Amino acid sequence: MMKAIRVHETGGPEVLRLEEVPRPVPGPGEVLVRVRAAALNPPDWYARRGFADIPPSIRPELPLPFTPGSDVSGVVTAVGAGVTEWRAGDEVYGLVRFPRVGDEGGRGYAEYTTAPAGHLARKPASVDHVTAAAVPMAGLTAYQYVHDVIGLRPGSRVLVNGAAGGVGHFVVQLAADLGAYVIGVASGRHETFLKDLGVAEFVDYTRVRPQDAVRDVDCLIDTVGGPGGHTLLPALKDGGTLSPVFFGDYHDEELARRGIVRRGGQVHSDGTQMAALAELIDAGRLRVGVDSVFPLEEAPKAHERAERGHIQGKIVLRVA
Ligand SMILES: NC(=O)c1ccc[n+]([C@@H]2O[C@H](COP(=O)([O-])OP(=O)(O)OC[C@H]3O[C@@H](n4cnc5c(N)ncnc54)[C@H](OP(=O)(O)O)[C@@H]3O)[C@@H](O)[C@H]2O)c1
Repeated sequence: MMKAIRVHETGGPEVLRLEEVPRPVPGPGEVLVRVRAAALNPPDWYARRGFADIPPSIRPELPLPFTPGSDVSGVVTAVGAGVTEWRAGDEVYGLVRFPRVGDEGGRGYAEYTTAPAGHLARKPASVDHVTAAAVPMAGLTAYQYVHDVIGLRPGSRVLVNGAAGGVGHFVVQLAADLGAYVIGVASGRHETFLKDLGVAEFVDYTRVRPQDAVRDVDCLIDTVGGPGGHTLLPALKDGGTLSPVFFGDYHDEELARRGIVRRGGQVHSDGTQMAALAELIDAGRLRVGVDSVFPLEEAPKAHERAERGHIQGKIVLRVA
């Protein structure tokens, strides 16, 4: 048996309950991971609320009960049939089975989970499990947006909205690392954090409207979205790239009239890209922001922290 957080009915943070459940068994191509830390991501609280924030036409099916959590860092304790790349004792991290959700997903809020061997990479040696667990979904989203979705070029002027959050703080670093000029938008308390991560200009959206302060960016990477998404479009040059990370209202007519190209996507598990992120971390080229750390049994408190918003980096559960 093992301890795991289970959700039996959707609702507030209080529906996250610590229970004893059977330890999972790795199937063919999978490994069993002793989870040392698991990070929170927005899909965890969307799922906890029954995806009430997702438009009904694309709302995922979510059988109850389930264990949330897609980001893990831990130690391999057993391997399933056909696994040759991992063995017991290996320290690994990864985004597990995403974009699948519920019990079909990563089940990371637990002492053990199984993971397809190809979703994992060796944990970066220079950081502990809590820090490593903070990387997978947000780091892969940033990596896939910068390299695969946008194909960002050195010298581009890039505006990152929601720059201090999980995705944003990795985007600003990856963009700066490849030679882009990065302007970060966040609330004022994140200014020093973001300047230390390589942001060339900082805009505090609580004092200045970014669309008044910034002009002629080649690319707008918006991790905030929502009904006000279009308000940042004046900062983008005609013919530029709009890259929404979340759903937003971006006024399609304005995009068409100004020749703005829209490039968005859905993050997916990828062990090879996790290895690339580990290399950047170990080389000191990518830093990991940890907002707060809670023990597994305090998952409800961790979700309460997430509900308060204004996250700087990531919220992580430590699994004893
Ligand atoms: N497309 C994909 O595959 C994909 C993958 C991962 C995440 N996402 C989505 O991307 C979004 C961001 O995820 P995340 O993990 O980075 O979330 P997060 O860690 O909660 O970060 C959001 C950040 O936005 C900032 N913010 C809030 N309101 C703002 C505003 N009006 N203007 C500027 N910044 C604002 C917050 O801090 P301050 O307000 O203090 O600055 C916070 O740092 C979520 O909606 C998530 O579902 C999509």
